[in-house]
Amino acid sequence: MRWLLALAAVAACSVTSRDRALDAPPPDDFRYVSDMLVKRCGSLDCHGQDGRSLRLHGKFGLRLDPAHVPGYNKDTLAEVDANYAAVLTLEPEVLESVHRDGGRGADRLARMRWLAARGYAPVVVRHPSAWVASDASHGVGCQFLAQSAVCSGARLGNAVIVNTAASIDHDCIIGDGVHFAPGARAAGEVVVGENSFVGCGAIILPRIRIGAGATIGAGAVVTKDVGPNQTVVGNPARPFHQEDR
Ligand SMILES: CC(C)(COP(=O)(O)OP(=O)(O)OC[C@H]1O[C@@H](n2cnc3c(N)ncnc32)[C@H](O)[C@@H]1OP(=O)(O)O)[C@@H](O)C(=O)NCCC(=O)NCCS
Repeated sequence: MRWLLALAAVAACSVTSRDRALDAPPPDDFRYVSDMLVKRCGSLDCHGQDGRSLRLHGKFGLRLDPAHVPGYNKDTLAEVDANYAAVLTLEPEVLESVHRDGGRGADRLARMRWLAARGYAPVVVRHPSAWVASDASHGVGCQFLAQSAVCSGARLGNAVIVNTAASIDHDCIIGDGVHFAPGARAAGEVVVGENSFVGCGAIILPRIRIGAGATIGAGAVVTKDVGPNQTVVGNPARPFHQEDR
């Protein structure tokens, strides 16, 4: 499962991108993922060809060893390694965030890739009862569900979900991939880092900053800034340490 979530996030625990080491899952189990990818997407008319940025080597497509032909001979270890590198080097920063967040957001990432590969721009889905202020802005792939509201001056990134009856007040800045669950509310000028999750009915008070990858528990009232990848619950919201319970 860990690997399916990370469909892409790969490498020997770290990968270097723009002179920076990035987090990634270890390669140990990648052969199972490679096997699945090659069977599903590795044919000559799919990712098993030179023209693809995600280029898969294996039984049904490109072969590393010239003595091997498509359709015969099992995938070699060198091909598994090549697939590992191919998957890893695509959008490494995005993949790192998927890995760092335990896979959260991977489904949306996969869906957006699926659309992009077929030449579609991810659409914005907006329920007729959702309200988005005329001077608010948002990226692609966002979803505004019934009775949700995005107020004046708010700026939302890509693939943000504003779920049923959730609201984002004036001048908030909401990063890519953030999910506001049903009834969650951000007061004015709140900043929420990418891929954070705001649980059902949570309230974030004005000008609070939420770090990337944070989780705000259902019903929490957030009165203080929340660090990256931190989980908070309760009223007032406090750090949630599962191991202390
Ligand atoms: C905070 C949260 C992420 C923790 O999840 P978890 O690690 O699986 O936690 P558990 O369900 O195992 O609960 C562990 C403990 O925390 C408590 N707890 C869980 N969520 C809580 C919350 N939001 N506020 C206060 N306490 C909470 C539980 O009562 C339990 O307490 P106990 O150990 O005394 O019995 C989760 O409970 C939450 O709030 N998720 C949001 C759900 C949501 O809004 N979904 C919307 C989908 S659209």
